[in-house]
Amino acid sequence: MTPLNVLLIGSGGREHALAWAISASPLLGDFYCAPGNPGIARHATCVALDVTDHGAVINFCREKKIGFVVVGPEAPLVAGIGDDLRASGFKVFGPSKGAAQLEGSKGFTKDFCAEFDIPTGAYGRFTERDKAIAYATAKGAPIVIKADGLAAGKGVTVAMTLAEAQAAIEDIFAGQFGAAECVIEEFLDGEEASFFALCDGRNAVAFGAAQDHKRVGDGDTGPNTGGMGAYSPAPIVSDAMAERIMAEIIRPTVAGMAKRGLPFQGVLFAGLMIGKTGPRLIEYNVRFGDPECQVLMMRLKDDLLTLLVAAADGTLDKVSVRWRDAAALTVVMAARGYPGPYAKGSEIRNIAEASEGDDVEIFQAGTQLKDGKLVAAGGRVLNVSALGKDVGEAQKRAYRSVDRIDWPEGFCRRDIGWRAVQP
Ligand code: AMP
Ligand code: GLY
Repeated sequence: MTPLNVLLIGSGGREHALAWAISASPLLGDFYCAPGNPGIARHATCVALDVTDHGAVINFCREKKIGFVVVGPEAPLVAGIGDDLRASGFKVFGPSKGAAQLEGSKGFTKDFCAEFDIPTGAYGRFTERDKAIAYATAKGAPIVIKADGLAAGKGVTVAMTLAEAQAAIEDIFAGQFGAAECVIEEFLDGEEASFFALCDGRNAVAFGAAQDHKRVGDGDTGPNTGGMGAYSPAPIVSDAMAERIMAEIIRPTVAGMAKRGLPFQGVLFAGLMIGKTGPRLIEYNVRFGDPECQVLMMRLKDDLLTLLVAAADGTLDKVSVRWRDAAALTVVMAARGYPGPYAKGSEIRNIAEASEGDDVEIFQAGTQLKDGKLVAAGGRVLNVSALGKDVGEAQKRAYRSVDRIDWPEGFCRRDIGWRAVQP
């Protein structure tokens, strides 16, 4: 078989983990990443393409005879990079602009769930402040207020009082999140899990579950972040629960999207609340979770590239997915101050020594090379990831590695995985 030249789009820890997995594929020919980062540069040639310029990306793919494009983040998908590449004859892993509305528009997703009986919280959509406030007042607290559109996880308020709910509504209509629409949702009680499925437009294959820690501080305290750590498997997602999630949420979504003429191809990431009555959908994302992807990649036994190509080819009914008989855990190291303002440019030392051994991988997220030194260049900077026979062993290995990294300007949570580790 001719080797497959691959372009990966993105530059975070998720893309480093994808690059690490793709680089091991027997199918792989030349491997590029745009724009990439110094960690990804160990596996792929990083190219300084502006990925918002779809014409430039298409020209690059022509020039380098790219056979397959893997899109990591949601923004290019929502902007329609998949459609433009496919229209130019390139094979892509990732949904069309229309299908990416499952992440890009909360209103679209809520209406879709209502139409196809997908379990989620009751909701209302509002474009007028007064009507939103009247609805929230009638429902009472606790209640959840969300700005429509991509708000990088910052457009959501879980209001425990009506006063908090009103303040959140005022913020949205004052244009805080660049959205003029607000979704008001029933508060869902239970335990959260991230569930993944590879989809090819018609078929869906379960692709693991993980639990993320969204709050910045130990004990799940402080402001929300993009995720401070994750582990997989998620004990709450038993095999029986995974089958319920596929039957009640994922398959109806894939069938409903096909029916709407927006077949979903790529990875569907369901953010779930698992409560007494079963799983309910909090939100959809149309890409891998970050940092959930990092733990999935460490556990994956099969060849990632083969699976992603099967999703793009519509042949997922012919594959199965096998996992290592192990748990994985990742600890996010962030720049002091994150998720608020933080400094850039501090030097990170000892990465190579800290990642010694087969069971540890340090994925780079917000890093840069400056005068030959590795420096912090973002909020979430490193994902220190480890495998173990269970979550407890993976946790010990990950923190042992964290403690060997010499980066005084960084911090991490010390309790990633607490729910899954026996005291
Ligand atoms: P989202 O950006 O929609 O993932 O929301 C961010 C976080 O808010 C989620 O991870 C949940 O912890 C919380 N959240 C969102 N919607 C609800 C809901 N309906 N009930 C309870 N918690 C929620
Ligand atoms: N870790 C959550 C996300 O990627 O949205």
